[in-house]
Amino acid sequence: MSAGFAEAALEVLEGERLEDARRILAKYPNPRSAVIPLLFLVQSIQGYVTDEGMRDVARLVGITPAQVLATGSFYTMLKKRPQGDYVISICRNITCTHLGARRLIAEVRDRLGVELNEVTSDGRFMLETAECLATCDGAPSGQINYEDVYHLTTDKVMDMIEALRRGETVTSVRGEPIRTIREISYEMAMTGTGLTALGEATARTVAGEVLPPDMAPGFRPRVTGTPAGARPRPGIEEAAESAGEMGAPEAEGEQPGDATGGSEAAAPGNRPGHPGSTEEESR
Ligand code: FES
Repeated sequence: MSAGFAEAALEVLEGERLEDARRILAKYPNPRSAVIPLLFLVQSIQGYVTDEGMRDVARLVGITPAQVLATGSFYTMLKKRPQGDYVISICRNITCTHLGARRLIAEVRDRLGVELNEVTSDGRFMLETAECLATCDGAPSGQINYEDVYHLTTDKVMDMIEALRRGETVTSVRGEPIRTIREISYEMAMTGTGLTALGEATARTVAGEVLPPDMAPGFRPRVTGTPAGARPRPGIEEAAESAGEMGAPEAEGEQPGDATGGSEAAAPGNRPGHPGSTEEESR
């Protein structure tokens, strides 16, 4: 990846974060597949998905900012305006409503002194409603930064908020400490990029699962709509045949997930007109 490109054009994804972006891009045969994790990376830096962050993602991936916005705006976990450190989501669907969720939401809103989707004056908390969280057995149910909390009352919600304000650890029903939006956004962004200091892929998922060969780093799926004059990519069958065995490298000298090894053209994340890209990857 060309440092010159980054320094000249990027506003948010620079320095160490640009290296993180490179790792994310290296996971995918098609750069635009990295849009969502890159947006989580922006959110981990700026607290939400800013316009300049979306422009950076567009530049790195090679699509327009409008296309990035069209993708990012579909997902409620990617916020396009400040959301504070902690998002309190309270379910308003049928089971929770039957058990008092509407009154609970109104009372928490009043105690926080904000409207829904507004951040508190200290910049730390935002209250939002949610549809069924699939935790109806814990109704009235909610989440704080997407960690489940059950059997909510107004006092219980406010106690958790005050504890977080004091810097104390608050845990979800599964015993996980509730972390800030920036922390969980970074985890979301970097999932599956488990790289050693040598740059080799060590785990493709958070759980360390071994993925099938057509999902392995470096695998090139068949792409439809190949531009005229471009050399076609191998399809699944051809790639499996050339690899010789499940999960084998595509070509001599190339290691799956190794963004530094193998042919330059086949290196994961290479893109036309972008840092480290070659015309070979223009498909
Ligand atoms: S209705 Fe609230 S969690 Fe299902």
